[in-house]
Amino acid sequence: MSGKLIVFEGCEGGGKTTQIHLLKEWLNQKGISVTTTKEPGGTPLGQKLRHLILAPKQELITASVELLLYAADRAAHVEQVLRKELSAGKIVLCDRYVDSTVAYQGYGRGLDLNLISQLNQIATGGLQADLTFWLDVDVEVGLSRKRLNRDRLEQEDIAFHRRVHFGYAHIFAQDNKSHIRIDANNHPETVHKEIQKILLLKLQQWGYKQI
Ligand SMILES: Nc1ncnc2c1ncn2[C@@H]1O[C@H](COP(=O)(O)OP(=O)(O)OP(=O)(O)O)[C@@H](O)[C@H]1O
Ligand SMILES: [Mg+2]
Repeated sequence: MSGKLIVFEGCEGGGKTTQIHLLKEWLNQKGISVTTTKEPGGTPLGQKLRHLILAPKQELITASVELLLYAADRAAHVEQVLRKELSAGKIVLCDRYVDSTVAYQGYGRGLDLNLISQLNQIATGGLQADLTFWLDVDVEVGLSRKRLNRDRLEQEDIAFHRRVHFGYAHIFAQDNKSHIRIDANNHPETVHKEIQKILLLKLQQWGYKQI
């Protein structure tokens, strides 16, 4: 595959959607066309799963049901979107990927990390991100940015969100080559500039000449 998969991760309100938008504009201005996508919900099936997973009020969804719904969404997304776009040579900006499952269902819900890793392997068929940004925002700050229309996971208590944050800290402490932490408490434009700086280096390493 010749494209590059760039993932944005982090707790609620870290600015993933905002930064993906800014980055897409910036890359487009440089003449690099990108595909933006998200999990859950990057395919028609995924949209239905997203609604099931995130609707604020519904039937009981246990931790293992939640884990498997996310995995189904990911399997469809990898097969129908990510592999296709990457083989066409595209840069793909993806809102959440495997690290979300480790952080939320592993650290947040307390499910077994080895099982999650195996499930991620099944869902992705081994497709790894080339670069993952963690938009690291203080848990309270992130939640306060998203006071209205909170989905089912956003409505979890603060202790849950702290465990998720701890999970991200753990994941990103293990690798600093393809996992980059960004301080997302700053102004969106400052965050964007930091992402630009890192991506410029990466794009050069990857052989993008127009940068
Ligand atoms: N750096 C920032 N400083 C202040 N506000 C921000 C910043 N980045 C984003 N916001 C605002 O915070 C809110 C949440 O941002 P955004 O939707 O981009 O976060 P997100 O990480 O995609 O959240 P979610 O996990 O819910 O999808 C939006 O109203 C956005 O305008
Ligand atoms: Mg978002």
